Amino acid sequence: MAYEIFFLSSEFDLPKQNIIGLEFNRAAMKMANIDAMFDFMFTDPKDVYGKSTVGENELLYFADVCAGPGGFSEYVLWRKKWECKGFGFTLKGQNDFKLEDFFAGPPETFEPYYGEDGDGDIYSPRNLKSFQKFVRSNTEGKGVHFMMADGGFSVEGRENEQEILSKRLYLCQFLCALLILRKGGHFVCKLFDLFTAFSVGLVYLMCMAFEKICIFKPNTSRPANSERYIICKWLKEDIKDIADYMFEVNEKLGKYSSTTSDADIVEVVPLEVLKENEEFYDYIVTSNDKLGTNQIIHLDKIRVFAQNTNLHEEKQSDIRKECLALWKVPDKARSAPPRCEPGIAYKQLMQGENLSYINNSPGPLTPNLLKKLDRIFDYHCVVCGETKIPPSLFIGLGKSNIYQYDPNSSKWLKLELVLELPANTLFYGELIQELKGENAVV
Ligand SMILES: C[S@@+](CC[C@H](N)C(=O)[O-])C[C@H]1O[C@@H](n2cnc3c(N)ncnc32)[C@H](O)[C@@H]1O
Repeated sequence: MAYEIFFLSSEFDLPKQNIIGLEFNRAAMKMANIDAMFDFMFTDPKDVYGKSTVGENELLYFADVCAGPGGFSEYVLWRKKWECKGFGFTLKGQNDFKLEDFFAGPPETFEPYYGEDGDGDIYSPRNLKSFQKFVRSNTEGKGVHFMMADGGFSVEGRENEQEILSKRLYLCQFLCALLILRKGGHFVCKLFDLFTAFSVGLVYLMCMAFEKICIFKPNTSRPANSERYIICKWLKEDIKDIADYMFEVNEKLGKYSSTTSDADIVEVVPLEVLKENEEFYDYIVTSNDKLGTNQIIHLDKIRVFAQNTNLHEEKQSDIRKECLALWKVPDKARSAPPRCEPGIAYKQLMQGENLSYINNSPGPLTPNLLKKLDRIFDYHCVVCGETKIPPSLFIGLGKSNIYQYDPNSSKWLKLELVLELPANTLFYGELIQELKGENAVV
């Protein structure tokens, strides 16, 4: 078991929700901060030997849970572009994903899913099981390389009970990670206070399930609040028993919450076991002490600043610049991606290369033609499904904005297909009918 503690003094308090002058919104900046502080272990995951865990020609798979409107995913999509595929799971309703606001990265490779119940509630055992099935079936049975979870809800008026009110959310997010991560996968999850035996027991179970864990408060998290993140590295192989146990605890909590009884589960690992493991116990106590001390300092600072509105934090602008450089995030304004004409986008993508030969219809490769092929580099071979309609160029300008090149009219024609492509996708292909199912129903 290994724990590491990272703690940074948080002078860098982002002032507004949509920070002018930054590529991302506040939440996305938080994930950029966390990723960078852990040597990009999420967007560039490596195994214990330092080798990339994303195979050649493989996509980076991730999940973003309790995650609306989706800032964390926007960060990952920005950094990895189309070379990743994300699965989203969050409550439907006003805090749902807002894919139309994903300005920094391509939303086409992100797929929201709301579970068998259709409401995106992570508490539902049926939703958890169906999300697991969905993710596994879309990742060749392996699961995702990493999962992010940032669940939270309003606790207005009951701020001091936030940890207790969020206990089932902690549990279900942890459980979800165990269900959908691949072996060696990583996990990051928002937590608040870690005072109760229930929460600390859950952290203990994550210690058992992963090679390394740590509790971390990023600079981008407001310094006076209790928010912190658990970072879990390298999921172990045999964690099914832990997942089954958490699943059972969740089902019981569900039953208790639907009755009027006072029954509750207050610990998941006996307190003696937590105390017996001195290394773990000391780690949690030290982490709580450090975070608490820092909260006190910053609450005091807020009081001083509130009492004297002439005070100004002079270090903020320099720290902001240093942070952005460290996190490898450009210091530029957030804006909607420009929409451009297919012809112009094509010219920009080709950078002067001439593809006019593509306008020639391909001929079938016959033994006679093979004999004539003395200079192989003068030819391009493509696999064709249907020779009546020749293949052609397609360009994607984002979402369902897809155009096909028509060599007869030399025009790009808009395609009316139920298909989405990330902006600046160019490929040579053909439209064919795909037959599905035993009786080949389209
Ligand atoms: C702080 S927001 C997440 C912000 C997000 N990481 C981002 O970058 O935009 C918390 C999210 O947790 C979701 N949430 C709260 N309870 C949930 C539950 N039981 N099941 C699923 N999602 C939940 C909320 O609806 C909200 O979208």
